[in-house]
Amino acid sequence: MKAVIVGATSGIGRAIARRLAERGDSVVILGINEEDLQRSAADVASRHPSQTNFGYVLCDLERPETFAPALDAADAALGGFDTVIVTAAMYATQDELEDDVELVRRLCTVNFAHTIVFCEHARKRLLARGGGTLVAISSVAGDRGRKPVAIYGAGKAGLARYLEALDHKFHAAGLTVVCVKPGFVKTPMTAGLKPPPFAGEPDGVAADIIRAMDRKKPVVYTPGIWALVMLVIRWLPRFVMRKINF
Ligand SMILES: NC(=O)c1ccc[n+]([C@@H]2O[C@H](COP(=O)([O-])OP(=O)(O)OC[C@H]3O[C@@H](n4cnc5c(N)ncnc54)[C@H](OP(=O)(O)O)[C@@H]3O)[C@@H](O)[C@H]2O)c1
Repeated sequence: MKAVIVGATSGIGRAIARRLAERGDSVVILGINEEDLQRSAADVASRHPSQTNFGYVLCDLERPETFAPALDAADAALGGFDTVIVTAAMYATQDELEDDVELVRRLCTVNFAHTIVFCEHARKRLLARGGGTLVAISSVAGDRGRKPVAIYGAGKAGLARYLEALDHKFHAAGLTVVCVKPGFVKTPMTAGLKPPPFAGEPDGVAADIIRAMDRKKPVVYTPGIWALVMLVIRWLPRFVMRKINF
């Protein structure tokens, strides 16, 4: 596998990069902070000295003009990528978002509009070479309209719908699309939040995601128990959702 990962300087993305490099896949990571990118690239390279193709490229999901040059640079470094994984996103609590409409604009733009724009650049490049794998991280937060994640969840719901439609439209052309729906995972994004039952660790979640990619599963809940939890939540009637704080 020759993979490009956006968001591999932290959390789930970093765990995926480590696991892919460990098994011999080539990886180029994309992100906003050169120092963090250098450190993450060196971290993986030092664990896997046989890797020759482990690099980084600057790319900011707030700046769509960086997307095409970053993908082209990654493509050149890898000698043609076959896999693109988007783990980067912004997070803010519902209270923070309700107090700051500019933050709402930024978060929805990065997590929904710009993530889709980035995926479109990736999709075109993959299809032009006969197909490949496109993975993006949605969330269980997008499965229902829920009080604590009303705004963050809306962006993730939109992203999941886009990925579903991509799968329908381009599967036959050779594009494997994987929509990842993590439950709560203990990463820097959720630092300071109280972990609920069934909270996952980044490495276990990364293993689930790589397994789903290898098996070409279009949707994966991780940790797996969240598939069951969300099955129940999706069927709860509206009057119950109004009463509970989930
Ligand atoms: N953790 C959870 O409980 C949970 C649950 C459901 C879904 N998710 C989703 O899982 C994905 C990974 O989350 P995580 O928990 O691993 O978060 P994380 O540890 O905070 O990592 C987020 C990554 O995104 C990067 N990033 C942020 N803004 C960016 C931008 N504008 N351009 C490029 N990169 C940017 C960060 O880079 P810097 O470090 O340089 O800022 C970091 O590498 C996200 O899509 C998140 O929404 C997480």
